[in-house]
Amino acid sequence: MTSIRDAFQTMAWGTAPESPATAEAWLARHPKGFGHSIGGAWVEPSAGERFATTNPATGAELARVAQGSKEDVEAAVRAARAAQAAWWALGGHGRARWLYALAREVQRNSRLFAVVESLDNGKPIRESRDIDIPLVARHFYHHAGWAELMETELAGYGPVGVVGQIIPWNFPLLMLSWKIAPAIAMGNTVVLKPAEFTPLTALLFADLCHAVGLPAGVVNVVTGDGRTGAALVEHPGVDKIAFTGSTEVGRIIRAATAGSGKRLSLELGGKSPFLVFEDADLDSVVEGVVDAIWFNQGQVCCAGSRILAQEGVAARLVDKLRARMETLRVGSPLDKAVDIGAIVAPVQLEKIRQLVEQGIAEGATCWQPSWSLPREGLFYPPTLFTDVTPAATVAQVEIFGPVVVLMTFRTPAEAVEMANNTRYGLAASVWSENLNTALDIAPQLKAGTVWVNCTNLFDAASGFGGYRESGYGREGGKEGLWEYLKAERRKDGKTESDPSPSVLPSFRPSVLPSGLPPIDRTPKLYIGGKQVRPDSGYALPVLDSAGNRVTEVGRGNRKDVRNAVEAAHHAERGWATATAHTRAQVLYYVAENLAVREREFAERLRALTGSSEDAAALEVRASIRRAFVYAAWADKYDGRVHATPIRNVTLAMNEPIGVLGLVAPSEAPLLGFLSLVLPAAAMGHSVVAVPSERWPLLATDLYQVLDTSDLPAGVVNIVTGTRKELAPVLAAHDDVDGIWFFGPREEAAEVERLSTGNMKRTWAEWEPRDWLDAHEGQGEEFLREATQVKNIWVPYGA
Ligand code: NAI
Ligand code: MG
Repeated sequence: MTSIRDAFQTMAWGTAPESPATAEAWLARHPKGFGHSIGGAWVEPSAGERFATTNPATGAELARVAQGSKEDVEAAVRAARAAQAAWWALGGHGRARWLYALAREVQRNSRLFAVVESLDNGKPIRESRDIDIPLVARHFYHHAGWAELMETELAGYGPVGVVGQIIPWNFPLLMLSWKIAPAIAMGNTVVLKPAEFTPLTALLFADLCHAVGLPAGVVNVVTGDGRTGAALVEHPGVDKIAFTGSTEVGRIIRAATAGSGKRLSLELGGKSPFLVFEDADLDSVVEGVVDAIWFNQGQVCCAGSRILAQEGVAARLVDKLRARMETLRVGSPLDKAVDIGAIVAPVQLEKIRQLVEQGIAEGATCWQPSWSLPREGLFYPPTLFTDVTPAATVAQVEIFGPVVVLMTFRTPAEAVEMANNTRYGLAASVWSENLNTALDIAPQLKAGTVWVNCTNLFDAASGFGGYRESGYGREGGKEGLWEYLKAERRKDGKTESDPSPSVLPSFRPSVLPSGLPPIDRTPKLYIGGKQVRPDSGYALPVLDSAGNRVTEVGRGNRKDVRNAVEAAHHAERGWATATAHTRAQVLYYVAENLAVREREFAERLRALTGSSEDAAALEVRASIRRAFVYAAWADKYDGRVHATPIRNVTLAMNEPIGVLGLVAPSEAPLLGFLSLVLPAAAMGHSVVAVPSERWPLLATDLYQVLDTSDLPAGVVNIVTGTRKELAPVLAAHDDVDGIWFFGPREEAAEVERLSTGNMKRTWAEWEPRDWLDAHEGQGEEFLREATQVKNIWVPYGA
């Protein structure tokens, strides 16, 4: 037994196994083996044929899955075709609600997904848990947003139709999300074929689609090997094929679809260069190499598998790399302390072994750490080749394993030449502490992605894809959407209407406490996430449309505004620097929690304003939708890159203004209020908001919704009272950075006059707006008012 003292000396640690129990319980629910997921249900394989998928770390059989036949593919394509028109007709908002529901479902089951992925593929749980699955959720969130914005941001484009999608085994669920999320967001329906070695997370995903009630046929999963993939490629009812995998199969698919009219996108192999310049920080470089080639056992299409090091630092880098390789841990994928898991399948392990032997035979120096591998399972040690010639097999062929080659260069020109000496062009990374060097080299590299002082970074907002034999088409970001769109003006010229609630996912109401507060309670102010009594100790009556006094609200004053501004400033830094994805998730959650309360809010509106039941329902629904719209925009209101013609690029970054004072219009007490608060919050502002003076209860009813939506305290502060008293205080306040005012002309003028103290940006309007209207009540005008542009000049291609 080691003593604590010994343990501190050696820094050795034990295993930290993740339990497979929940995953096994899920597998046990399919004792006969899995079928295909077709038309929203499990379907037996027509030929009754199944094969095993195994755990590469142990060799144990995990489950039996169906071998898809031509008939199975036929049934799936038919189901997708039958579902497509209604899915498109559901409209962007309806589809956004479904994609959001899927994102939430992935998050709710994230641990189960991570364990199943690691069991089936062999990747370390640390990676499936912390990288793959969070990125999967992120893809569904991000594309929920594109669905929401499709009508305005992609006007004139419609879906391609039925999409066949074929994915590899290295990132099984992540590749599923890269394929399915953009396709269904744009109104397509899909038939997805996962890889034969790793079908399980796709089947778990299908299970969840059934559970949440995704309309049948929108997502179909047919398992099987290359023959099943070929049947999908050849099916005449498929309008587009999206493929990720080997360049060889990509070539076969290009040939098979030629002249068929099918659209095609291909994400293929790579042999990506990893350039290390003399002035690079070598310790960062070493960690970069770990992420570049030992992430996912090196089974990454964009793995940095060719290190090109400048001569002066090459020897030092090799020493450092070898020392680091000694500390890497290879072992059970379910061990949380493991860096490198198992290779996916025996054929892949064999391929790696053969290529390494060939490398040695061709005269390169092969180095592997001194420790030994686990005795059972498909493991391969991290491997570094030096003394490699540029034409060597190991320098040219994609090994798809934890094997990296290192070559040296003398000058930047030679580095570029060596980097581009490949038939591929997927990615590259450039390491230099000198930004000018890095940005001189980046534009010269023939690759779809270039990482500067980092590597293997992915996000739903950024496109990913290849140059040359690495394929074409992009996945992620707006550029990735074009793969799933075709120009098609909507003939009726009408904007889409709200989908009927019966076709939307139902959100679980369990997240909220009981209903809205009773109307006879006097709501307080909402400052710093707390309900506080007004400083004045006075209240204002609230009358309904018939003039009856129904309750009172707090009468906020100068002191309350000061406190609210202070609370907003406390919250500001955290909120403005939170990732856009975080802000998007919070706003979606606001939408969800408002949707759960849809009827109560409509009833409250009707009771107070005397509007018709229909009009009240419409305002609430538009409010929910507005929350979806700004959640969507949160991570999409991108800056730009200006091509300033002086060997520069100019990054035009949208930044928040600071703390905003918002004075909401009197009319549309819920929608008008949210139409100001949501875009401001989406762009990273903390706000002090004064709700409709006449009907402030719709804003005070939101306290609970905001409380339960993970909105940080102080981001939205609400001060009720009279506009005439509060707006001037906000306008004159030196710690308020901008003010939006919607009210009478004389008051607007006063706001503008008072803003001169700190020259705060003002947006004051007196013309009434139709807040229900999607063009008047929301959109870029609001986003522009909620941002200022900073231009950053960067040398590029110098
Ligand atoms: P692969 O390209 O054969 O398989 C990828 C997918 O295509 C799988 O779902 C497979 O069932 C399907 N498929 C196979 N033949 C098909 C056909 N004729 N028509 C339609 N679909 C077909 O890749 P494989 O065999 O798994 O791995 C072989 C090598 O490919 C690896 O050693 C690696 O070098 C490379 N590879 C590259 C990937 C990348 O992301 N760039 C991913 C996986 C493999
Ligand atoms: Mg497997």
